[in-house]
Amino acid sequence: MVLCANFNPYNLEDPGTCELTLGYLPLIVVRWQGSWRVYRNYCPHLGIGLNFVPDEFLDHEKNYLMCANHGALFEIDQGTCIAGPCVGQKLIAIPCEVSNGQLWVKLEQ
Ligand code: FES
Repeated sequence: MVLCANFNPYNLEDPGTCELTLGYLPLIVVRWQGSWRVYRNYCPHLGIGLNFVPDEFLDHEKNYLMCANHGALFEIDQGTCIAGPCVGQKLIAIPCEVSNGQLWVKLEQ
């Protein structure tokens, strides 16, 4: 597991999102219903980042993650696209845990 240093996951609203870069890897951190999810900031439609505005990934109702490029909506829990040009595809989930107030992510070797 890799520590996301200088990031307090409890500072995120619930629901809320922010972006982090770990080395070269752009990530989306989501706090939702009391827990956290981490996805790569990589839309399965065109392989580009989802957001135009820093840290903003939720739709207006804060029910889904949204790609600002073409409006794809993704379930927060599983990252599955339920509307837009990549229905059925998924965001790439990164295993994570919050321990002692810090976010840890498990990156593939
Ligand atoms: S790039 Fe995300 S919906 Fe097109």
